Amino acid sequence: MAALPDLVVREMQSADVGARIDYFHDATDEHLRTMGVDRGLLPTKEAWRARIEADLARPIRERTGYALVWELAGRMVGFSATDQIEFGKQAFMHLHILRPEERHAGLGAEFVTLSAAAFFRVLEIERLFCEPNALNVAPNRTLQRAGFRYLFSHETIPGPINFRQVTTRWVLERPESR
Ligand SMILES: CC(C)(COP(=O)(O)OP(=O)(O)OC[C@H]1O[C@@H](n2cnc3c(N)ncnc32)[C@H](O)[C@@H]1OP(=O)(O)O)[C@@H](O)C(=O)NCCC(=O)NCCS
Repeated sequence: MAALPDLVVREMQSADVGARIDYFHDATDEHLRTMGVDRGLLPTKEAWRARIEADLARPIRERTGYALVWELAGRMVGFSATDQIEFGKQAFMHLHILRPEERHAGLGAEFVTLSAAAFFRVLEIERLFCEPNALNVAPNRTLQRAGFRYLFSHETIPGPINFRQVTTRWVLERPESR
């Protein structure tokens, strides 16, 4: 796939947090289900924003999460958030293109590659995991396309906003040359 020159990955800032939260709160039931998210477990917008803002104020080594905004020609089209960060070791990544009509057009695979490089650099991690719902085809295909290696599938509750589900765990090791 040819590189897309207009793609930029940058750190998520306070001004972007509303779009991230609205993405979940405004999502259809079907979209949340596909992602394995339980609407009843979403924090209120206010509580969620307060939590993210507090985290943004911490030094990078003490963050519970770290997120990137995906921009196409200067416009936010998606984001990638990490959690379960063990600084210097590993983190788990999530992938989201905001608008359905901009999915499945080759952007995700490109952004994942750019995001992985940023996560390795900023979080100084050795390995990056992603663990989507096993039945959610798009992220599973995208991770494979971006060079992630399949590890295993298991039944779990992968995060605080998720219901119990079968997930697939993928990993990307830090490239040798930095
Ligand atoms: C996951 C997501 C970021 C992937 O980005 P994308 O731009 O749609 O993916 P791409 O167009 O780059 O496609 C990458 C690969 O996935 C495949 N793919 C993407 N969407 C697909 C779909 N809905 N069904 C089947 N395959 C799909 C593409 O065909 C391509 O496969 P290939 O390598 O065989 O050519 C995006 O689909 C999305 O935001 N989905 C909703 C949110 C979500 O489910 N997130 C996962 C939570 S971790």
